[in-house]
Amino acid sequence: MRSYSFPLFVLFRLQTTQAFRNIINFTERRYLSSDKSSLIGMMANPSTSDLNIASTLESVRSKIQSVCKASKRPIGDVDLIAVSKTKPLELLKVAYENNQRIFGENYVQELIGKAQEMPSDVMWHFIGTLQSNKANSLVKSVVPHVHSLTIETVTSMKLANKLNNAMKDFEGKKLDIFVQVNTSGEESKGGVSPNDVVSMCSEINDSCENLNLKGLMTIGAIGDLTCFEILVKCRDSVASELGRIDICLSMGMSGDFEDAIKQGATHVRVGSTIFGARDYTDKTRT
Ligand SMILES: Cc1ncc(COP(=O)(O)O)c(C=O)c1O
Repeated sequence: MRSYSFPLFVLFRLQTTQAFRNIINFTERRYLSSDKSSLIGMMANPSTSDLNIASTLESVRSKIQSVCKASKRPIGDVDLIAVSKTKPLELLKVAYENNQRIFGENYVQELIGKAQEMPSDVMWHFIGTLQSNKANSLVKSVVPHVHSLTIETVTSMKLANKLNNAMKDFEGKKLDIFVQVNTSGEESKGGVSPNDVVSMCSEINDSCENLNLKGLMTIGAIGDLTCFEILVKCRDSVASELGRIDICLSMGMSGDFEDAIKQGATHVRVGSTIFGARDYTDKTRT
């Protein structure tokens, strides 16, 4: 009896040690396969543990580069706006550690809060519906603390004037804006009608000395690439009216940013492909 107990004990020890090693190896492989930054993200927010922001960002960047190359456009011609609306700060920090500097947000209070927590060299793009009564607080809470704030969703002269007035406090600084164009005709999509874009851009150019008309933006209908063509035409008309060749085009999201670049986008707004599906259960966001 005794002569068997020693080898059995040794065998048992060996097996448990091996099982323990397997667990360690598995854990190491899981964490080593993702980089340091995404590890931080995983620890900070376990619900996003399957996301590897470093690799989703890299994949989007390399697609942008490939399309630029194929379209014979300089690499770097297209700015990637990482749409981080509803996403926790920890994920934005992971993206920042992976050299992402431009972030897009849809809600005023969310942007103000995140801008206070993120490094000051972040360039923020506001891409949601902006009520003109919130323009002042958005500008005054964010502009003094950040590298830049761009409002992509200017849809009326009322809003343009409010933004212009809010910028009076920042002498010598201009606020970059995009005029949002409703290229699909859908009521649910905000924006100026393509027929009214030139006159509104001219008015902004003439009367809003604290704004810099950076370009035109559209959301477009899913799967309808004519929306991009319409925005390009609007841009051409605005460029010729104002005598400018540097009017940018913000168009293209997760599902169609490559098509948008082919058609001339200078800014693409990509959210779910980088950060995963959004969670809209928090109805208190403003
Ligand atoms: C104006 C705008 N642009 C871009 C995006 C990003 O969309 P996606 O997650 O499909 O990339 C959103 C998301 O809500 C948006 O509202």
